[in-house]
Amino acid sequence: MNSYLFFLGQNSLLSQAELTSLIPEAKLTTPHQSIIKLDSPTSLDLPSLGCRLGGTVKIAVLKQTSSAKQLQDDLVKLLLDQQAKNFSLNLLDSTNQESYELSNEVKQRLVDNQLRTRFIAPTSTGISPVIITKQKAVELTIDSDFNIYQTTWVHSFKSWINRDRRKPFVTPKSGMLPPKLARIMVNLAVGDKDPGGLTLLDPFCGTGTILMEAALQGIKVIGSDLSADKVAGTKTNLDWLDENQACAPLKPATVFQANATNLKDQLVDQIDLIVTEPTLGPASPSQDKLSDIAHGLQKLYLGALKHWALFLKPQARVVIALPIFHGQNRSYTTADFIDARENLGYNTLRNDLIFTRPGAQIERQIVVLEKQ
Ligand SMILES: C[S@@+](CC[C@H](N)C(=O)[O-])C[C@H]1O[C@@H](n2cnc3c(N)ncnc32)[C@H](O)[C@@H]1O
Repeated sequence: MNSYLFFLGQNSLLSQAELTSLIPEAKLTTPHQSIIKLDSPTSLDLPSLGCRLGGTVKIAVLKQTSSAKQLQDDLVKLLLDQQAKNFSLNLLDSTNQESYELSNEVKQRLVDNQLRTRFIAPTSTGISPVIITKQKAVELTIDSDFNIYQTTWVHSFKSWINRDRRKPFVTPKSGMLPPKLARIMVNLAVGDKDPGGLTLLDPFCGTGTILMEAALQGIKVIGSDLSADKVAGTKTNLDWLDENQACAPLKPATVFQANATNLKDQLVDQIDLIVTEPTLGPASPSQDKLSDIAHGLQKLYLGALKHWALFLKPQARVVIALPIFHGQNRSYTTADFIDARENLGYNTLRNDLIFTRPGAQIERQIVVLEKQ
């Protein structure tokens, strides 16, 4: 059995759902609320798996199993073997003080062995990918069974920041999905299928965030939007991605203007997946309008889902981010209509995933549907 620790991003439930979707056969346990232990019968190709994930920031691999008595010796040997100039030791289930004391003792022994080294104090989830990368730090995580894991993959924080902040076409007022959430949604739709053989449609494509994250995985992407400006902007962003951010040329994309409730006749390709964040209604709505807005949006979403059922194959997945509006006294969800309507032609696979940020007035409920 091969064991790994996945250090999750800000929303651990979504990150966990992404892992379960991509590797359904893996056994997952949670030694910490932001860390998942994954046992796999086969060894995982971490660089290629890691690059597909939106919800994981670091992956550590089991190096060896130690014991209370042997731990310090084993850590010293591991760090000496690698001539670690910078290191960090993170004892899960222990206090920061205990990690600090162990690090100090280990450091002293390394110095006694002629290794000039320094340690970096961890938080409860270790040190950041930025520090690991910039300081070439060896990070070891020790669980309560004295398993020692070494971090061997960290996410490419520069390319995530570039795609989030440097794409040429942005529309802050109509909302843009964070790229990491877009990637997680794509992975919830792809599951354990080969992304290279799939075609994905985003019928509310906006600035193309979802299409960009899908295209980077070798998926053929199609986008549409009611607004001609957004169609042009999405094309600009996909060209920018192809020229600046992709390791390999992207597959040619199609983007056209259409109402999401009536686009079937403009599609030439068979669609395997729909991943989308539909319109959230007016920007900054007043409190007394929230109920009407939520009601109106549900009608639009219902019309769109009914239309998509006309051309999706059986078992095709739809992953959709539906808004939850927070008023002063109550919240308004917009996903209720899905369960209330048995004749929509979809099974609900998940509706328990919520994306939120501190103080956000709009949360997003990520719903995963499967065409019957
Ligand atoms: C929340 S934005 C999508 C943002 C996108 N996920 C992104 O990251 O840029 C919703 C989009 O839906 C479009 N839209 C609104 N009503 C529509 C409709 N009936 N059919 C198609 N697109 C529509 C808007 O023009 C807007 O670009």
